[in-house]
Amino acid sequence: MDMPTTHRTPARAAATGDDTTGDDRDRKVFIKTYGCQMNVYDSQRMADALAADGYAATERMEDADLVLLNTCHIREKAAEKVYSELGRIRDLKTERALEGKTLTIGVTGCVAQAEGKEIIRRAPAVDLVVGPQTYHRLPDVLARVRGGARVVETDYAIEDKFEHLPAPKKAVVAKRGVTAFLTVQEGCDKFCTFCVVPYTRGSEVSRPVEQIVAEAERLAAAGVREVTLLGQNVNAWHGQGPDGKAWGLGRLLFRLAEIPGIARLRYTTSHPRDMDDELIAAHGDLETLMPYLHLPVQAGSDRILKAMNRKHAASDYLRLIERIRAARPDIALSGDFIVGFPGETDADFEDTLRLVREVGYASAFSFKYSPRPGTPGAEMDGHVAEQVKDERLQRLQALLVDQQQAFTVSMVGRTMPVLIEKPGRQAGQRVGRSPWLQPVIVDEKAGGIGDIIDVRIMEAGFNSLHAVPA
Ligand code: SAH
Ligand code: SF4
Ligand code: F3S
Repeated sequence: MDMPTTHRTPARAAATGDDTTGDDRDRKVFIKTYGCQMNVYDSQRMADALAADGYAATERMEDADLVLLNTCHIREKAAEKVYSELGRIRDLKTERALEGKTLTIGVTGCVAQAEGKEIIRRAPAVDLVVGPQTYHRLPDVLARVRGGARVVETDYAIEDKFEHLPAPKKAVVAKRGVTAFLTVQEGCDKFCTFCVVPYTRGSEVSRPVEQIVAEAERLAAAGVREVTLLGQNVNAWHGQGPDGKAWGLGRLLFRLAEIPGIARLRYTTSHPRDMDDELIAAHGDLETLMPYLHLPVQAGSDRILKAMNRKHAASDYLRLIERIRAARPDIALSGDFIVGFPGETDADFEDTLRLVREVGYASAFSFKYSPRPGTPGAEMDGHVAEQVKDERLQRLQALLVDQQQAFTVSMVGRTMPVLIEKPGRQAGQRVGRSPWLQPVIVDEKAGGIGDIIDVRIMEAGFNSLHAVPA
């Protein structure tokens, strides 16, 4: 074995007397988060696990004894960012060493899972590499690092990390604000041919209802008003209910809506194949469920959808949207798109534009296809030239920006409830959210943070709305 990984237990490390560096003073951790909301949630849970181990969180890397990069592997650029950041942190570590101090560097998240030991080889300053399923083992990993080891932990743990991660203190939750993420499902069994997620996050796991309810109750008790349920494939969630049966997401949403204090629910990200009748009905029947749905389609051409292994045609998606709109006519839709998947012709791309025009999105994310090592797409024939991808992305984004702008402008003159979230950038202002996830700027006298107030939209900016109390 060429890897310097060891598996010393913390007890052994302590016994050798080399577990003392920094143990008897205040330790600080700086976590930098890349990628999706699931990583944002994971970073908070890592901070909770480390708080229980004596680490306070800091917003400044320069103050930290431990720097964790919680990484994303979804596109090549995302993964490469990590290595350039590691270069900068290495310099900080060298400066520290000259002062006789230590800086521990860790890589977590999807790059950690995908590249494991390769990170240790490519970036010698890295002390630990921990995959998304083993965050509860961080204190143990750090003890081993203090014992002089470089540790790689990328197993899919047999134990459930959620059962082992400590709950955050009420004051910590309150500081994080009145909206919160709550991961209910992890992993993906869909294997879209472009995507690394099934390899970095493993197969689908659904948390049981009682665990989720307990976490949501803790959030509510700390003042959280809006909870967004997260999962790589959140609407495939089928956790065990207290009745011993597998529940669907629609039923879970109804249960969570009963928790006093929880006024708004959202969920993301969904796969079109997993929108069942109960969930669609919830959009019509459950007022707490906000009228906004992120439902990626990726492409509008059946040929490309098939090559992507999305397991549905464009017409299935359009029918589904019709059913969702029948249940909740004012629902706003958002999506993800990939241009330049291998084999995509001009005609295929026109199909994507046609689908976008037909649906009308309130917001959307669009990307150039990025071949990912180990995925079937990367091995396919017919890779599209970069310049063609650029042109297609520009055309698609121009259309999506127009749609988003039209949606924003359509809000002017309307009255709606807004959840006030935080102080605004300018003195005397506060920022809230509309039911459709738009930032709404109001005067601070309009209400306190955590209040839901009725406002009238007076003006639309590019990305936000200005409102007065209704
Ligand atoms: N679970 C979500 C997607 C997670 S990844 C879903 O099924 O929709 C977020 C988005 O990144 C995807 O929806 C897709 O549009 C984009 N993406 C994933 N892999 C990509 C790749 N190889 N190249 C470009 N974009 C990609
Ligand atoms: Fe990736 Fe497809 Fe799974 Fe979404 S559904 S995480 S795009 S494999
Ligand atoms: Fe990125 Fe992993 Fe999320 S690859 S998008 S951080 S699941």
